[in-house]
Amino acid sequence: MIIITIDGPAGAGKSTIAKALARRLGISYLDTGAMYRALTFKALRHQINLEDEAALVDLAHQTTIDLQQDQEARLKVLLDGEDVSEEIRSLEVTNNTFYIARAPGVREIMVAWQREIGEHHAIVAEGRDVGTVVFPKATCKFYLDADFEERSRRRIQELKDKGKMVDETQLKEELQTRDHKDFTRQVGPLKKAEDAVVIDSTGLSIEDVAGKMMEYIQARKS
Ligand code: C5P
Repeated sequence: MIIITIDGPAGAGKSTIAKALARRLGISYLDTGAMYRALTFKALRHQINLEDEAALVDLAHQTTIDLQQDQEARLKVLLDGEDVSEEIRSLEVTNNTFYIARAPGVREIMVAWQREIGEHHAIVAEGRDVGTVVFPKATCKFYLDADFEERSRRRIQELKDKGKMVDETQLKEELQTRDHKDFTRQVGPLKKAEDAVVIDSTGLSIEDVAGKMMEYIQARKS
């Protein structure tokens, strides 16, 4: 099975690029962040103590997360059968994912779900640890980065496009905090895999980045 991994910080363009690549390759797209977000949403809804790892592990065991794509590669996130695609993008969920992401027992379950998907489907997987932990033997690995200003700009634009009010200073602070937590957690931290190709998307279009990646993938396949 072909497995392409893309890791990198928030706002580097992973989702957009992963979708574009998956479309070009005619394979599926796996947004692992959506899984962490969906479980965070459920934990918040059930008012689970986010500091209580055992409770989070229990919750994960009682949860099914199903990721589906429509014809336009739009992602539908089903949490126990309920469509929560919009809800999991809220600021509250975004700022609380780190509780879920830092819990080793929860990550173990997430990684098992993700590997299960990779066993049955050719995929472009994106996240923080997909090249390092989830799929260490992936066909081709990328680490997608962009400078902080550009990543913040993209996030601000994304929210504005959705008609949301944005406090730019606050958003930058939150992005910085999230980066820091993603880089420094004990398990599954954001890290470049040794054999990953680094691409800096600052100033590049989606087509430019997808084109570069396709070159590497073609070279790897031939
Ligand atoms: O990619 P996205 O921004 O949607 O991810 C939300 C959060 O989920 C990240 O900030 C990170 O804490 C967590 N995550 C993770 N491991 C992954 C993907 C996401 O810990 N593979």
